[in-house]
Amino acid sequence: MKIDHFKDKSKSWDMNSKRVQNAKSIAHLIIDNIELSSKMRVMDFGAGTGLLSYFISPYIDTIIAVDNSPSMLKEFKEKAHEFESNTEILELDLTQTEINQTFDGIISSMTIHHIEDTKALFEKFYKMLNVDGFIAIADLDNENGTFHSDNRGVFHFGFKRKELKEIAKEVGFKDIRFKLASTIKKPHQEFTVFLMLAKR
Ligand SMILES: C[S@@+](CC[C@H](N)C(=O)[O-])C[C@H]1O[C@@H](n2cnc3c(N)ncnc32)[C@H](O)[C@@H]1O
Repeated sequence: MKIDHFKDKSKSWDMNSKRVQNAKSIAHLIIDNIELSSKMRVMDFGAGTGLLSYFISPYIDTIIAVDNSPSMLKEFKEKAHEFESNTEILELDLTQTEINQTFDGIISSMTIHHIEDTKALFEKFYKMLNVDGFIAIADLDNENGTFHSDNRGVFHFGFKRKELKEIAKEVGFKDIRFKLASTIKKPHQEFTVFLMLAKR
């Protein structure tokens, strides 16, 4: 049986204002740093309820939401009519599935720490991009394991930017850059979120 790690969180996911603000900050940084166009088909990896997709949708043609959580995608579907772009939904585990399509860009927010093999994931991203396609991946900077109250399904306590850059370079990505996307303040600690930008 497949485990939906987000089953108990999906309904209230968008009610957390810090989460919404984080997605909004990431989206604005993407919009400021990538030349998006109304012809683009962009995949949101680990789209969840669609927080990041929603803010990017006015600037592109189609969002392809990829996620393996039926409960998160249920929330996505319920608000898909509010998006300014077309939306397509692919319910699948990207580590186990080949998608035979290519995209103009891949965006992702707070998802890659759930994937054990980062290099294999980046190789997959590379293959799924059109020439000159972009990735814009946001996740936590290296943390001490206290960001999540429950670390089930978490393979990385954030990332060291230098190590991630090395992996992206080995896979073939170019123009790899990092930006500070946001700071998430929790009662016990602050956590920073980076945005990694690169081109195929
Ligand atoms: C922390 S949530 C982030 C959701 C959304 N991007 C946001 O910022 O609100 C991570 C999402 O990644 C999805 N996910 C994790 N591993 C995945 C995999 N192997 N394939 C597809 N989706 C995955 C989860 O189901 C979940 O919806």
